[in-house]
Amino acid sequence: MKLLNRVAVVTGGANGIGRCACQLFAEEGAKVVVADINESGKQVADELITHGFEAMYINVDVTEERNVQNLIRTTVDTFGKLDIMVANAGIAETIPIHQLSLENWNKTINVNLTGVFLTNKYAIEQMLDQGYGVIVNTASMLGHIGRNEVTSYTASKGGVANLTRTLAVTYSKKGIRVNAVCPGYIDTDLIRNKSAEMMEELIRLHPIGRLGKPEEVAKAMLFLASDDSSFICGTNLMVDGGFTAQ
Ligand SMILES: NC(=O)c1ccc[n+]([C@@H]2O[C@H](COP(=O)([O-])OP(=O)(O)OC[C@H]3O[C@@H](n4cnc5c(N)ncnc54)[C@H](O)[C@@H]3O)[C@@H](O)[C@H]2O)c1
Repeated sequence: MKLLNRVAVVTGGANGIGRCACQLFAEEGAKVVVADINESGKQVADELITHGFEAMYINVDVTEERNVQNLIRTTVDTFGKLDIMVANAGIAETIPIHQLSLENWNKTINVNLTGVFLTNKYAIEQMLDQGYGVIVNTASMLGHIGRNEVTSYTASKGGVANLTRTLAVTYSKKGIRVNAVCPGYIDTDLIRNKSAEMMEELIRLHPIGRLGKPEEVAKAMLFLASDDSSFICGTNLMVDGGFTAQ
């Protein structure tokens, strides 16, 4: 077991990639905090408990500072420490900038970038007290390349990618490793509102010839969260079926 007795928080743990990470981390021995704005996260935690794992749901809006402080405090009060923070909660939209309202821009930046700022900030505060910890942020391959009309999302994920590097540079000597996964298009609810033609196009754009599965991203998260990646910090790990290799 790669995460035996580690305590892991997964934001966006109620669905998609985060939900798979909660399941996989629990199977690898971690005590898992399913952190999500959606109350369905309670069901995810309950299912884990039913299968004999240690888990807990905490309702959190990652854009609310007090919520995030409460998340870290409750985790440490319950499980005694915080080994792993997976900052994964995110939203997506595709609107060209000339039609994008400031309100929509702010919404995406708040969840995808400020949410990562807050969860990393308060996780690192706790990890500094402990002298150890691992952070895995969910950026995106779209934090590294441009994409037609995907305005606020690409900007937010570019921010996550570079915030990850800076935090790694700042905190590695304090025993805290910070890395990011950068998924290609993954078959989750986040992209299911697209037309059949667009889905075909997205599949075609991945050299591997298909979309990714959330489990495949969760496995990359496990690698970065475990001691298997002990000399890796500040990296943005592409999990994109070769999309950005072209
Ligand atoms: N699916 C993809 O193609 C893809 C590609 C690259 C990156 N990503 C990133 O992966 C992460 C997970 O996405 P997913 O595909 O699993 O999507 P998803 O919609 O299935 O899951 C996202 C989860 O985040 C939660 N969430 C949203 N806003 C929140 C908030 N303010 N506070 C707390 N929780 C909140 C949702 O309730 C949901 O459970 C996101 O950061 C997303 O940007 C996804």
